[in-house]
Amino acid sequence: MNPPIRKAVFPVAGLGTRFLPATKAMPKEMLTVVDRPLIQYVVDEAREAGIEHFVFVTGRNKTVIEDHFDVQVELELTLNERGKTIALEELRRDMPLPGQTSYTRQQAPLGLGHAVLCARELIGNEPFALLLPDVLIQGEKGCLAQMIEAYNASGGNVIAVEETEPEKTSSYGVVGVGEGDDRVFSITEMVEKPEPGTAPSNLIITGRYILQPEIFPLLLRQERGTGGEIQLTDAMIQLMKTQPFTGVRFEGRTFDCGSKSGFLAANVAYALARPDIAPAFRDELRRIIMTAS
Ligand code: UTP
Repeated sequence: MNPPIRKAVFPVAGLGTRFLPATKAMPKEMLTVVDRPLIQYVVDEAREAGIEHFVFVTGRNKTVIEDHFDVQVELELTLNERGKTIALEELRRDMPLPGQTSYTRQQAPLGLGHAVLCARELIGNEPFALLLPDVLIQGEKGCLAQMIEAYNASGGNVIAVEETEPEKTSSYGVVGVGEGDDRVFSITEMVEKPEPGTAPSNLIITGRYILQPEIFPLLLRQERGTGGEIQLTDAMIQLMKTQPFTGVRFEGRTFDCGSKSGFLAANVAYALARPDIAPAFRDELRRIIMTAS
């Protein structure tokens, strides 16, 4: 049997330059989609998939993320005094259990690969999940839960992929498709930002991974790649030489909340999926669209 995936890493140490000045003093991962910070959505997705330990790789200005996943005693007392029991219950439901969170610092934002490397002592010698908090995936079943299903059957490393238009593949990591079916298949190769016309498929890597601990020594040895950063894809390409990788074409809709348009689209889509907000918001949205064009 494959060892269970118990731990998840959330890299939250990036500079979020595309969202300046919003991210000057506040981490990008605390930007809100409707009324929840981005990081809460991905932690919820991990918890639903059975993750028991949440490892955050933080940087400067990120203590607010630790505060978010801690008890706010004064707030709870006030809500209690005012009889706001539903709000209080919701806050408590979102809280990880005692001892379920760990934080480590990435001292300089040297790239995603480096952020993952910073979690090595907290992960130890077991496979783990990696979720990028600026990628939200909306769907009936969480993306990580779908990946763990595939992992339980295949073991090894698992990567979430989705289709994009062929002309856009040069902006992403792209995978080559081997044996399997339309939804779950073995990955034959990985290319980071392929030259136009050379991509092995139109399936791109999408911000959710299940990785074996053998990735850590490879990251440790990894030279700095594109943009002077330690790239996760470069280490995964090395790991592919000795271990299998499975691609999961998940069901769900992705929002790249690291880009302004993706973030705004996520707010619209998540608001329209909320029965308490959707009716009023839909009317408002219609009015805006009619008068804006
Ligand atoms: P991004 O490249 O999307 O985030 O990394 P960024 O660098 O913060 O954003 P821009 O491009 O400057 O606007 C994806 C995830 O990896 C984390 C980020 O915090 C984000 O959640 N990350 C990135 C790190 O933790 N450390 C890094 O060195 C780089």
